[in-house]
Amino acid sequence: MVAFAGVLHERDDVRADYFPVNTIREDFPILRQTVHGKPLVYLDNAATTQKPQAVIDTITQAYTHYYANIHRGVHWLSQQSTDAYENARTTVQRFIHAGDSREIIFVRGATEGINLIAHGFGKKFINEGDEIIISAMEHHSNIVPWQMVCEETGAKLRVVPINDEGEFLFDEYEKLIGSRTKLVAVVQLSNALGTVNPIKKIIEAAHSRDIPVLVDGAQAVPHMPVDVRELDCDFYVFSGHKLYGPSGIGILYGKSKWLESLPPYQGGGDMILSVSFEKTLYNTLPYKFEAGTPNIVGAIGLGAAIDYVSAIGMEEIAYYERELLEYATARALEIPQLRIIGTAKEKSGVLSFILEDIHPHDIGTILDQEGIAIRTGHHCAQPVMDRFDIPATARASFAFYNTHDEIDVLMDGIRKVIDLFK
Ligand code: ALA
Repeated sequence: MVAFAGVLHERDDVRADYFPVNTIREDFPILRQTVHGKPLVYLDNAATTQKPQAVIDTITQAYTHYYANIHRGVHWLSQQSTDAYENARTTVQRFIHAGDSREIIFVRGATEGINLIAHGFGKKFINEGDEIIISAMEHHSNIVPWQMVCEETGAKLRVVPINDEGEFLFDEYEKLIGSRTKLVAVVQLSNALGTVNPIKKIIEAAHSRDIPVLVDGAQAVPHMPVDVRELDCDFYVFSGHKLYGPSGIGILYGKSKWLESLPPYQGGGDMILSVSFEKTLYNTLPYKFEAGTPNIVGAIGLGAAIDYVSAIGMEEIAYYERELLEYATARALEIPQLRIIGTAKEKSGVLSFILEDIHPHDIGTILDQEGIAIRTGHHCAQPVMDRFDIPATARASFAFYNTHDEIDVLMDGIRKVIDLFK
């Protein structure tokens, strides 16, 4: 049963009649077009998501009516712009249930959020011989910044292995946690496999030894409700563009006790209280980490995206997308030549697959001719490909505006690919 718009619906049909997907699709103008003469079937949502009219309108309104630089002007436009930017911060705070808006830092994306913490935490708390734990299913953005810290400090990167289903091996993780562990950085939902990690349990195990945890939530936040206080994570990052908002804007959440203790990432305007050649005093949170003119309208657009998904409901989105994935998986299993990569019990929104020896790029190119957009390649997670001993996968990734009919179109397209290579 699922609650939608305050009504409980029996789930007796995988076609999810309770979810107003056709009405929702009307909100996304890009979905109305045809590609190569076929209706667009956009299944590349793990790479980035499309934008509802409400977000597009908010961005247009901002630039048309009240755009100015923020935190600097006494004039009316600057005050309007500052208010909209700071309201967006509060919207993010409520959305992820952070305790305080000072703990919400606007960054360029999840990648910048991780780099900011790697820079500050590395400088302040990591020394030679220390260890940082990540997992074998991380995106490059949660691997390379830590490798850079290790190079600079002489620390070691420890990697929690995954099993053949693409699941995080918790027992191995517990064995890796030791007296030299300084930080755990782990993904909540894998963009390459779709695995949903037992993130609360991972955090509890680290905290029982006083080790802080950073969660890469880039793929999770658009697809499930997230409560950073309930998780009790120390840092949480995500990107606006995967959450139906603009690109070039993202969020770093950090517990204030940590953010206060870390040095600034970049120096410049807005991150200072006073500057002289003798001494500069840094600004308070969150501004200490927001040097220079930020992506003002990006932040405002992200706020609009959050309002949009919140009106549908994250529980409802998670439920509907789970049903889409179940349907897609069942249909994919009907194709004997298809092997799913990533078969974790807890999965969301991602169907990665290979078709015998057909190269994923060929799959993607042929599907494109059918109007179907999927991603092919290593999905910025090369170690995942190495783990499964494959160069790449084809990946269909779902959003709440996708339909069961689109999955049928995808499956027909896949059969066409197989026929072409016979
Ligand atoms: N990280 C993005 C993806 O999964 C770009 O495709």
